[in-house]
Amino acid sequence: MMQLMVETHRAAFMARRVPLRVMQIIPLRASFSSSSSSFMKWEGGVSMVQGASRGIGLEFVKQLLENNEKGHVVATCRNPSGATGLHDLKNKFAERLSILPLDVTVESTIEESVKSIREKYGSLNLLINTSGILSIPGVLQPETTLTKVQKSSLMLAFEVNAAGPILVIKHMWPLLKIGGGSGTERDVAVVANLSARVGSIGDNRLGGWHSYRASKSALNQRSFLL
Ligand SMILES: NC(=O)c1ccc[n+]([C@@H]2O[C@H](COP(=O)([O-])OP(=O)(O)OC[C@H]3O[C@@H](n4cnc5c(N)ncnc54)[C@H](OP(=O)(O)O)[C@@H]3O)[C@@H](O)[C@H]2O)c1
Repeated sequence: MMQLMVETHRAAFMARRVPLRVMQIIPLRASFSSSSSSFMKWEGGVSMVQGASRGIGLEFVKQLLENNEKGHVVATCRNPSGATGLHDLKNKFAERLSILPLDVTVESTIEESVKSIREKYGSLNLLINTSGILSIPGVLQPETTLTKVQKSSLMLAFEVNAAGPILVIKHMWPLLKIGGGSGTERDVAVVANLSARVGSIGDNRLGGWHSYRASKSALNQRSFLL
């Protein structure tokens, strides 16, 4: 019933630190539809971008707002008040953008987002998980050798890159099932996880980056399991 498609987005990677990134897209066939009329209706559907404070996530929000004039975008990030890029978009697209706090390592924030989206919109048509970590100064460094691998780095990378997106999907799943493709040009709801080429085992020719690679490989497997 569900299939996994893998798309490469070469153009977006040219100027970035890794030459190619991989987005996994999982279409969800709608199994039922909302009968309630109390929700805010958006002809172009409701999209959610998770990890939207900056980088690729912020760009997804921008392009969804610019290219789908009848759609609404829910942008989530850890610290909405500090997300200046999102505030700029909010100034331009006031009614069509909402910003919610969500940290993928704090499950209650995911549950709060579900509650807010369910109460306001009743469903979701698109979920893009873009959050991810490769390096955090003083906390997490891409390991160049096995001797530099630390348990804390492995666990943190797995928590944010692998567990986080899957938990978001788990909690948003009922809303995606309700939304399906309604209001969009698709007949299915879509979930996209931002993975990375370096998460590929078959393509691993250089080694290194143990925590990041392994966590993205885990994300790939978990996406496939959906
Ligand atoms: N850039 C590349 O060349 C490249 C290549 C391959 C794959 N990717 C993948 O593509 C995705 C986006 O990359 P990017 O370059 O846009 O990254 P980025 O600029 O470093 O942004 C990462 C985003 O993840 C968010 N984030 C980090 N920890 C989080 C948490 N616990 N909960 C929620 N959000 C969290 C950050 O929010 P804060 O602002 O709160 O920190 C930020 O919005 C990542 O998954 C990355 O692994 C990127």
